[in-house]
Amino acid sequence: MNTIEWTDALVLDFEPIDTQHHAFVDLLARAQQAPDDALPQAWTALVNHAVAQFEWEDEWMQRTGFSSAANHTLQHRVVLNLLREGIAQARSGQLAAVREMAFELAAWFARHTQTQDAALALQLRHHPALPARGGSSPRAPAQRGGRAPR
Ligand SMILES: [Fe+2]
Repeated sequence: MNTIEWTDALVLDFEPIDTQHHAFVDLLARAQQAPDDALPQAWTALVNHAVAQFEWEDEWMQRTGFSSAANHTLQHRVVLNLLREGIAQARSGQLAAVREMAFELAAWFARHTQTQDAALALQLRHHPALPARGGSSPRAPAQRGGRAPR
């Protein structure tokens, strides 16, 4: 099983999402390569990032009336539930299960990025309330009192 890497196939040409996705890939790669004693911490860092990233996407889907928001948000919720189970597994020493989950997550992430997130990026890129790529980033939830993607 190969370690996930950031590739052009994952680029959506929308900086706020690409930046978050690049961080996700880096954290997932770190978890995939972590020695046993570092895996619980690496997995927890990945899950914390995923929580913030998915919250950011969910919020912008709502704010811009994204047509498939319900399905996209449901995918986030299901995956987050599994990732949180992975934290418990990692902390209880079930490391093989977490390593398997890490590689399945990489495959899911590529599919999700190229379908659901690509559609969202297209919507956000053309949304009048948001600046075009190259301008300043859309206001992150943190700037309005919410949580920002990390
Ligand atoms: Fe997404």
